[in-house]
Amino acid sequence: MSAVIDPRPAVAGAAGPILGDAEFQFLREFVHQRCGIALSDQKRQLVQGRLLRRLRALGMKEFASYCELLRRDPASELGELASAISTNVTSFFREAHHYDYLADELLPRWLEHKRRQDDRLRIWSAGCSSGEEPYALAMVLAEALERSGSTLDAKILATDLSPQALEAAAKGVYPLGRLDGVSAERRRRWFLRGDGEFDGLACVHPRLRELVTIAPLNLLHEWPMRGPFDAIFCRNVVIYFDQPTKRKLFSRYAAMLPVGGLLFLGHSESMHGLSDEFELIGRTIYRKRA
Ligand SMILES: C[S@@+](CC[C@H](N)C(=O)[O-])C[C@H]1O[C@@H](n2cnc3c(N)ncnc32)[C@H](O)[C@@H]1O
Repeated sequence: MSAVIDPRPAVAGAAGPILGDAEFQFLREFVHQRCGIALSDQKRQLVQGRLLRRLRALGMKEFASYCELLRRDPASELGELASAISTNVTSFFREAHHYDYLADELLPRWLEHKRRQDDRLRIWSAGCSSGEEPYALAMVLAEALERSGSTLDAKILATDLSPQALEAAAKGVYPLGRLDGVSAERRRRWFLRGDGEFDGLACVHPRLRELVTIAPLNLLHEWPMRGPFDAIFCRNVVIYFDQPTKRKLFSRYAAMLPVGGLLFLGHSESMHGLSDEFELIGRTIYRKRA
């Protein structure tokens, strides 16, 4: 982090306004405090590029006005800011081994043990982006329920802080090209192909919508739900967070899981040195210890 901040106002270049030192410093602190995202000096160009579109959408000519908006009304702009600077990249059945583990190991065990009238099964997709992760989880869950003939009360909670991501998740409509990770059988079973003006698009089956509840949630804020969850998928989200934020988040996840409950992280994420409440039991699969 640069210690010296250039107090000169940012000037507009040919390609649009330039993100000056003072504004970058403000944005960096804002994003760190409210989203846990740590921006290095190297991210300055990226932030400038990503926020340019947002400035245009708001009809603003300089970053100082945008910072002013954040100071005045931080809550209303937070989601837009976070989604502009973080990536929403996702896909159906990304890191497929997690879905295999769910289908082959966890669901048969859970469905075998959860047989009482008041038993529930709850999975949380935390940082669900545009919905591919929770809908893929719903496919696996729906198939397991059907196979076992279980009528268990089972649901997937899907949360994110990005308004655009949540809107796409709620729509549940995807270009056919985005269904690459979905087997031909599952495409037939779980998607409705559009025609006419919807040609080239596929819409998720109503059964999947029924299993998935989509809600806005900043992981750094208060959580309205009490849990417990049987499993939490928080994959490719904490990659942006600094170590203290990760440590705190993992401890909050532990509080939402029963002993033996599972936490799934993304392929490049690890809990190493950040929590002793979990043990590693598979590739980025963690189990809450007794
Ligand atoms: C790269 S996507 C990962 C999507 C999916 N979990 C996957 O692995 O494919 C990261 C998501 O985390 C969300 N995110 C980042 N910081 C967040 C926070 N503080 N609270 C909630 N969601 C956050 C972003 O909006 C984005 O949609």
